[in-house]
Parts: sequence; C-alpha cells; structure tokens
Amino acid sequence: MLVIGIESSAHTFGVGIVSDGKVLANEKMMYDVGTHGIIPVKVAETHIKNSAAVIQSALDKAGIKISELEGVGYTKGPGIGPCLQVGQIAAKTIAKRLKLKIAPVNHAVAHAEITKREGGFKDPIILYVSGGNSQILKITDKPFRHYHILGETFDIGVGNMLDAFAREIKLKPAWGSTVAKLAMEGKYIEMPYTVKGMDFAFSGLLTYASELAGKAKNEDLCYSIQETSFAMLCEATERALLLTNSRELGVCGGVAQSNRLKEMLASVCKEHRMKFGFARNEYNADNGAMIAFVAERMLEKGSHQPLEKCDVQQRYRIDRAMVY
Ligand code: FE2
Repeated sequence: MLVIGIESSAHTFGVGIVSDGKVLANEKMMYDVGTHGIIPVKVAETHIKNSAAVIQSALDKAGIKISELEGVGYTKGPGIGPCLQVGQIAAKTIAKRLKLKIAPVNHAVAHAEITKREGGFKDPIILYVSGGNSQILKITDKPFRHYHILGETFDIGVGNMLDAFAREIKLKPAWGSTVAKLAMEGKYIEMPYTVKGMDFAFSGLLTYASELAGKAKNEDLCYSIQETSFAMLCEATERALLLTNSRELGVCGGVAQSNRLKEMLASVCKEHRMKFGFARNEYNADNGAMIAFVAERMLEKGSHQPLEKCDVQQRYRIDRAMVY
C-alpha cells in the first residue's frame, strides 16, 4: 500500500512515503527556533508556507505521482495545536481530493514503532525522550493493545529542559545538542537529582543550573546538567527493565540522538546482558516517514477515521492510542 504521512507536531513539517513498510521518501523543512524558542503561531505560518513544497519533494523522491497514493496518515498529537492543525488540514485535503482512507497517528506510537522495527525488537521497554515528552513505555494487551506508561516526567520533557538551559546561558544555536558539545569539555558539579520509582522531574535541575549561570563555567554546567538528567533516565529505565523482567531496551525521540545518552543506556544493558537498540537519527528527529509507517499498518487493519472525525489533540497521550 502506498501511503503518505504528514508530521507537524512542533518545529518540523515532515512528509514521508512508505510502501509495504519500506520508506521511499522522508522529506522535511524546519522552523528556525533562533534564540527565542518555539512561537506556535509563527511555526504554524512557516509550516503553511512550506507544506506544498515538502509534499512535492517527497513525491519526487519516491518517484510517484500524487494520484498513485493509496492512503494518508497524519499526526493527531501530542504536539502544539496550531502546528498540528497545518498537517491535519494538508492530510485531509489530499484524502478528500483523492478519495483515500485516512489514519490519525499518535506521534509517540510512531517513534516507538519505527524504533521497534529498526532495532529488530520483539517486546522491548521503550524509553521515549523528546522535547515535550519523557516516558518509559511497554506494550500491553489490556484493556486494549496500547503502550502502557511505566514512568514519566512529573514536569517538563528532558529535551525542552536542555533547550531551555541552552537559551538561559545564551548558546547558539539554543539546542540540547549545543549543550552536549560544551559538555565534552566540562567537569562535574553536583546538581539536584529527582527520581521517584520510575518517574522523574527536571524543573528543579533546570532552575539550579540556571542560577549558576555566570558563576560557574558553561562547560561544567552543560556537563553536569546533562550527566545528572541522563543518569536519572537511566536509573528509572533500569528499574523498569528489572521489574518487568524485560530483556530488550529501545530508546527513541529527539534526545535519543544524543551519543552520551545512548552510551549510558548501553552500559546499563551490558551490565544485565540485555539487548539495546535505537533507530537511525532521521527517525528520532520528527519525521513524516514514521507517521506513514504506522498509518499504513493502521489502514491495512481497517483502523481509519471518517474525514469529519479527523481532529488534533495537543495532549494525545500514548496510553490513549490503540496500536492497530
Ligand atoms: Fe518527535
């Protein structure tokens, strides 16, 4: 089945095309967050401007005409309302014009499912770490087939925390990846560490590190905030793996692009002789291919929605989404 998937939950407008689980195209354009972070209306305006070009570029890359498409998927949530709406409208327009079935996809399910495929996992624990989310997940069949949240952040996602800290100390570009670069030269300063069972919290850590701005070296602050937050994720994830007798761990989401986080999680798994894996970076960043990948499976199982019921949900939690 030839399916197009549209992703627009945050600063990326992404379009993927898959056929029988194979990714034929994965194109995107991103809003430049500069030093001001995400301003929802501005991001949505940028998505509107870019949408036609990214869709065309994906069709060209896949070597198909729009009339050859057989199904449509889009990100229903979670995400930023005005941004989600741009993708939803684009997807509905294609579906209506071509009279195609349409599947609303949960963004977190898409990250987790493409990671399961890429990592060759059977029944893994998934650590999902992105800007807005930080969750420890496992598929369960009761009361319906869905991802159960074993643990999650009490306040902000680890990605947004690192991005906010980058803005706080005026790094350019103000991303967690810039924090990671400086961290390579840093030394450890003790910082607040908050893990409660399999849950964790990052806002105290952000406040503490931000208050040290200008009083300690930026390199040391970057190293310490990164090590502390990643150690919290590792402790909670290790507990989840052991309590559920799991033998496989996958990490996904924007922060899963961090080599340091992957190194730390790999060492946890090595200690317990567990399998560890992840998807390539293009699927950990926001992308349309993972949406198309899940949409194709949903459509094949008959899990589609009438156009008038295709909405967006800013807080569409993964445990509310049925997996096919
Ligand atoms: Fe994402």
